[in-house]
Amino acid sequence: MAQRGRLSASERLFRARRISVTFGRIYLGIKTNQWIARRLAPRDMKRRWSRFNRQSAWSIYDTAIDLRGMILKGCQFVGSRADVMPPEYVDVLSQLQDRVPAHPIEVVRELVEDELDAPLERLFESFSEEPIAAASLAQVHDATLPGGRRVAVKVQYPEIAGLVRSDLANLKALFRAVGFVERDFDLMPLITELGEHVPRELDFIHEGRNSEAVAKFFEGRDDIHVPSVHWDYTTARVLVTDYVDGIKISDRDALSAAGVDRAAVMQTLVEAYCEQILVHGLFHADPHPGNLMVLPPEQEDGAPRLVFIDFGLTKQLPPAFRETVLHFAAALLQGDPARMAQALVDLGFETREDPEEALLSISTLLLEVAKRLRHQTWVDPAVVREAGEELPKLIRENPIVRMPGHVVLLGRVIALLSGLGHTLGVRIDMLRTILPYAMGQRPAPPISKPARTAERD
Ligand SMILES: Nc1ncnc2c1ncn2[C@@H]1O[C@H](COP(=O)(O)OP(=O)(O)O)[C@@H](O)[C@H]1O
Ligand SMILES: [Mg+2]
Repeated sequence: MAQRGRLSASERLFRARRISVTFGRIYLGIKTNQWIARRLAPRDMKRRWSRFNRQSAWSIYDTAIDLRGMILKGCQFVGSRADVMPPEYVDVLSQLQDRVPAHPIEVVRELVEDELDAPLERLFESFSEEPIAAASLAQVHDATLPGGRRVAVKVQYPEIAGLVRSDLANLKALFRAVGFVERDFDLMPLITELGEHVPRELDFIHEGRNSEAVAKFFEGRDDIHVPSVHWDYTTARVLVTDYVDGIKISDRDALSAAGVDRAAVMQTLVEAYCEQILVHGLFHADPHPGNLMVLPPEQEDGAPRLVFIDFGLTKQLPPAFRETVLHFAAALLQGDPARMAQALVDLGFETREDPEEALLSISTLLLEVAKRLRHQTWVDPAVVREAGEELPKLIRENPIVRMPGHVVLLGRVIALLSGLGHTLGVRIDMLRTILPYAMGQRPAPPISKPARTAERD
C-alpha cells in the first residue's frame, strides 16, 4: 500500500471492487430472503433474518477494517444508530468505534519522531507500545510527559490522507450514478460537505483549536469537560491532550456500576448541544459514543461529568443561519407550520416548483413527528416508518433540490443523539430543555440536576 500521497489506479480499483462485491452480496441476500419469507413461518423467518443480518454486518465489518478511510467512518456512523438499525448491525458495527486493528509501534514511532523532530524516549517519559484505541483516522497511545503528566497521543495513520482522497473520488462517482437513476434526490451536497470536512479533519492543529474554543463555552460548568491540548507536542498529524480515565458513554453496565445517573448525563449532553448550536453557533458535529466519555461524580451528591473528545469535525455556523434556526425552533415549538416553512426557505432549502406549498407540507409532517417525539430522546422507529411513507411521496411530488451543508451536519448530530438516548434508555423532556435556549433565556449554569427526567425500565 502506498504509504503517503495518492493511491495507484489498481488500488482504487481494488477498493471499488471490494465495496461493490460486499454490498452486492448483501443486496442479493436481502432479495433472496424476501422471496423465502413468503413461504416460511414468521417465527422461523425472524430467526433467519437475524442470522442473515449478523452475517452481513460481519462482512461489512471486515470490508471496513480492510479498506479504512471514509468507508470505515460511514460504517461507524451506521453502528451508532441503535434507534433505527437492526440490533445485529449495531452490535457488530459499533465495535468499529475504537477496536480497529492498529499500526505497529515502529510505524507510530517513525511518524511521531518525524513530526516532533526528536527521539520518542526524549519526548515522553513513557509511551505505551499498544494503543488504547484505533479509530478511523488515527490511533491513540497512552503516554507520560517528562514530569509525569499522563497524556493521550493521537497519531494519524500515515496512509490516511491518500485513502480519503480516493474514497471521495469513489463516492462522488457513485453518487453521481445514483443521482442519474434517482433524479429526484440529489445527494451531491452531502458529498461536497464531506469533501470539505474530512480533509480538514486531518489537520490536528485545527482540531486542537476547535477543542479549546468549545471548552471555553463550558468554563462555568463543572459537569462538562474538554481535555486540554499540549501545544508543544502537537502538529498537524500528532495531537497530545490530557488523558481522561472515563467510562465510554454507551457502556450502560459500567455507568450503573459507577453509580452514574444516565438521565443526568443525557440531560447534560442535550444542554451542551443547545449551548453550542443555539448560543455560540460552533459545535462538535460527531457525538458518536467513541467520542464521549463520562467521569463518575467525585462526591456522593455530585453530578457526573460529560467529557467531549475528538473535535475533528467541528462546524461553525454563519450568524444568519443561527438566527433562522431559532425562528424554525420557535415556530416548531409553537406549532406554526407556515412559519416553519418560511424558516426553511431562509435556511436555504430549495424545491423544484412551488417551494412554499412543498415546504409547508413538509413542515406539517415534521410537526406531527415532533409532537409524537416530544418526550423521547430517541427517534421511535414506528414514527419514522410512518413519516417514511409520507415523506418520499412529498419529495416525489416536489423534490428538495438543495439542502444546505450545515443542515446535513445538524441532522447528523440529532441522529447520533437520538441513537445514544436509545442506548442509554432514558427519556428527557426535550421541549423544556430546548425552550430556554431557543427563547434566548438560557438557564444559569451549572445545572447538575436534570429539569425533569424519567428513566425507562
Ligand atoms: N484524551 C483522551 N483520553 C483518553 N482516551 C482518549 C483521549 N483521546 C482519545 N482517546 C481514545 O481514543 C479514541 C480515538 O480518539 P479520537 O480522538 O476519537 O480519534 P478519531 O478521530 O480517529 O476518532 C477515543 O474514542 C478514545 O477511546
Ligand atoms: Mg473519534
